Amino acid sequence: MMRTSLRSPSKSQPSRQLFRIYLLQAQRQLHQPTIELMRNPDTMVKAQKEVRQAFDHKCPYGHESLMGELHYTRMVIKETLRLHPPLPLLLPCLCRETCDIGGFKVNKGTRVIVNAWAMARSSEYWDNAEEFKSERFKNSIADYTGTQFEYLPFGSGRRLCPGIGFALSTLELIVARLLYYFNWSLPHGMQPEELDMHTTVGATARRTNPLHLVASPYKVPIEH
Ligand code: HEM
Repeated sequence: MMRTSLRSPSKSQPSRQLFRIYLLQAQRQLHQPTIELMRNPDTMVKAQKEVRQAFDHKCPYGHESLMGELHYTRMVIKETLRLHPPLPLLLPCLCRETCDIGGFKVNKGTRVIVNAWAMARSSEYWDNAEEFKSERFKNSIADYTGTQFEYLPFGSGRRLCPGIGFALSTLELIVARLLYYFNWSLPHGMQPEELDMHTTVGATARRTNPLHLVASPYKVPIEH
């Protein structure tokens, strides 16, 4: 089966409007790693330790070049995108040839919508699929290129998200800086399990209610 665009705008020139929507999406996506870290305090401690060791007193201009050292923090983001993909259903495709998928005949011209969310939470492919466990990516070959079909946060094939490089570099850097510059806690003695995880799903998935956390500055002397 070939993946074919249903829409006319060319992929190389996404409209400004589309660009804005996706930027907003990347921005919204920032809540998810933060909230998962609040729900999993051990993960928060490990990620924060890693970031603070790597960024230790370094000039902020140098942070980007240190991202390669943040193996654990990047696994946290990978796991967040598994459980909370902003596009749970991939963009619609048209089947260009009649084919057989897992015993199902898919006729030419059928509109196909892939449920990436369901595959990323399937116990057929993941141990304790509903659990947030960043370490699962330590020895996993699942990456963002869309070749492992159980993990498609950026889609796959010809429709793979063209903003992937920009989205990841921004997301990883901002999460790392939030961990470096702030200590995070829950308001009014709230417990991690009380955090509201409601999601509104439309074309994209996003938190239903705003996230409220207490950020206390972690003061770092900076070398220039
Ligand atoms: C964490 C952030 C993001 C995630 C998880 C994400 C994920 C996705 C996914 C799953 C698709 C559909 C791929 C498919 O159906 O196979 C997609 C398409 C797309 N993304 Fe992203 N995206 C993100 C950020 C961005 C950003 C920042 C931009 C632009 C600057 C962008 C631009 C696009 C465009 C233009 C398409 C449509 C491609 C097409 O029509 O073939 N995305 N994205």
